[in-house]
Amino acid sequence: MVTLTVRQATLEDTDSILRIYNQGIEDRIATLETETKDSSYMEAWFHDHQGRFSVLVAENEGEVIGWASLNPYSHRCAYKGVADLSVYIDRDFRGQGVGSSLLEALEIAAKEHEFYKIVLFTFPFNQGGQGLYQKMGYRQVGLFEKQGVMDGEFIDVMIMEKLL
Ligand SMILES: CC(C)(COP(=O)(O)OP(=O)(O)OC[C@H]1O[C@@H](n2cnc3c(N)ncnc32)[C@H](O)[C@@H]1OP(=O)(O)O)[C@@H](O)C(=O)NCCC(=O)NCCS
Repeated sequence: MVTLTVRQATLEDTDSILRIYNQGIEDRIATLETETKDSSYMEAWFHDHQGRFSVLVAENEGEVIGWASLNPYSHRCAYKGVADLSVYIDRDFRGQGVGSSLLEALEIAAKEHEFYKIVLFTFPFNQGGQGLYQKMGYRQVGLFEKQGVMDGEFIDVMIMEKLL
């Protein structure tokens, strides 16, 4: 049973964010990235996520067990109200409502920062992601066939969106 606190991330959280992100990379279900990242990568990423591009963490008993972020979708002015999202939960805490709590809080943060839509790119075989996004009301827009290559295999990528 997890007791969750969701809050804005600080620079001190980047080690935990990195650890959880690297689990997602290793699991090959969440991202086309195949090389795990290091602290300097994550700190640079965090510095790029200031202002409107919130990073939230979920804590259980003082330990960060998941994170979610709003990412730039496009630098074109016409798309300034559209954000992309990332969400990663510690392997030991998946399927316990942490992702749902983070996305609820992220939607509030998105509206506060004048985003009217969140889009995301996910793999059709990511069952946890599919369950989470459907539950949270994301609509399937379409499927990019053979959009990326991972470990030498073509990967289809599903586009989803939610109007806030
Ligand atoms: C995908 C992920 C973020 C989901 O977060 P989570 O905390 O596990 O999700 P929740 O527990 O909030 O579950 C949300 C819904 O999805 C469903 N779900 C969760 N895991 C599932 C699974 N493995 N298979 C099918 N449905 C699943 C749940 O049943 C739940 O619906 P319910 O509340 O009606 O029962 C998490 O599993 C994760 O970090 N996976 C690895 C990284 C990743 O894939 N990130 C997303 C990249 S697109």
